[in-house]
Amino acid sequence: MSRVLFLLLLAFSPWAAGQSKAPPKSGQCTACHGADGQSRTAVNPILRCQHEAYLVTALNAYRSGSRKHPVMNSIANTLQPKDIASLAAWYANQPGCRK
Ligand code: HEC
Repeated sequence: MSRVLFLLLLAFSPWAAGQSKAPPKSGQCTACHGADGQSRTAVNPILRCQHEAYLVTALNAYRSGSRKHPVMNSIANTLQPKDIASLAAWYANQPGCRK
């Protein structure tokens, strides 16, 4: 039983998907934006392969409140500048992005 659980955890872990470098806070974003930033839902923007500087600007704007969206404002408030930098780098540099 515990072995099955272990295999299940392994199958769904970021490590299994080859995403061992995903920044810690990216887990908060996955439900809406997808693990790799490729959102499957039209209301949630695709972050994958976006310009890194754009993502930093957008997250800082939500954090300061100059860009208003209740969900993103409260999420961005939990992010430190280093989190924003690593999240932006993560989504901007997914495998297959044309740069
Ligand atoms: C509950 C769903 C939800 C979660 C969780 C969420 N977002 Fe968002 N995000 C949205 C929606 C909806 C928008 C569009 C908001 C708007 O219109 O400004 C958005 C917008 C953004 C944008 C701007 C995209 C653009 O093209 O301008 C960025 C960057 C972003 N989110 C990053 C993140 C990051 C990083 C996290 C995790 C720390 C996260 N989001 C968590 C729903 C979510």
